[in-house]
Amino acid sequence: MIYAGIDLGGTSIKGALVTDKGEILRKKSIPAGAERSHREVVTDMANLILDLMTEEGLTPEEVASVGVGSPGAIDPEKGEVIFAANFADFRNVPMRSIMEEILEMPVYVDNDANVAALGESMFGAGEGCRNCVALTLGTGLGGGVIIDGKIFSGAFYGGAELGHQVIVVDGEPCTCGRKGCWEAYSSATALIRMGKEAALAHPDSQLGSLAGEGLAEMEAKTVFDAAQAGDEVAQGVIDVYIKYLAAGIVNTINVFQPEVLIVGGGVSAQGEKLMEPLREKVQQEVFGGQADKTQLRAATLGNDAGVIGAAMLGIE
Ligand code: BGC
Ligand code: NA
Ligand code: ZN
Repeated sequence: MIYAGIDLGGTSIKGALVTDKGEILRKKSIPAGAERSHREVVTDMANLILDLMTEEGLTPEEVASVGVGSPGAIDPEKGEVIFAANFADFRNVPMRSIMEEILEMPVYVDNDANVAALGESMFGAGEGCRNCVALTLGTGLGGGVIIDGKIFSGAFYGGAELGHQVIVVDGEPCTCGRKGCWEAYSSATALIRMGKEAALAHPDSQLGSLAGEGLAEMEAKTVFDAAQAGDEVAQGVIDVYIKYLAAGIVNTINVFQPEVLIVGGGVSAQGEKLMEPLREKVQQEVFGGQADKTQLRAATLGNDAGVIGAAMLGIE
């Protein structure tokens, strides 16, 4: 059977047709248009699925269901997005009913990081383990907790928001309106913010030479590349970034002690350049001499974890 998946992000809507083995048959990405009304965004999501089915020559009978991963607090039973900070009009959005009306197929909705964790646990870095936690380091810092093979999202669906654990009291402002959240220190956005601050403070460094346009276009990769090329200022930024990332990971391991903790999202494309120093830091800190138990792995499904995991909501 074939399952459709949508990964809704602040900048793009990704869609894919996926087999029950987690293989992508066809995928496509369109701009999110996050400033638009929720009906426009959700209608685009449904139409993206219809386009993929047409291109693949599939009838609605040949696709079992459509799963959606959306940022924010989701009520999976109602198929509603209660709140998502990166979208202008995402308050109590009846996502499932809008999509089912257009598609006439069953639609499932869950949190983006929860479904990415599901995808990685079924076919990626967590394959074969029943208890794992996955992080997505991107625009935000998403958390997904898989317990006994199932998504855990708390009693009222607002759980597993790992990015909003406070790691610095009265610290940096977060998109959620609070201060000092882990997301404000360890998302890709936070790394870029720290990279820009360091560049402005050290104009003579390689990072600092990215004046004007270059600074505006800074990515997480820019900072890692500069560090790799020997720029001490960039290396300093990465050291601080890894310190905060490790702190939150240690907290997370101390709460869940998963078999595997998977680091995903854009920043995880750095692979061992990130993972090696991260493992070292985490192992110094985990409670009770248990440091070598939980394995820290980079995600292996890359940008596809979200669409694959979303599609698998229909199998669950
Ligand atoms: C949101 C989460 C989301 C994460 C990744 C956070 O800011 O609160 O719901 O999973 O970003 O998109
Ligand atoms: Na989550
Ligand atoms: Zn927050």
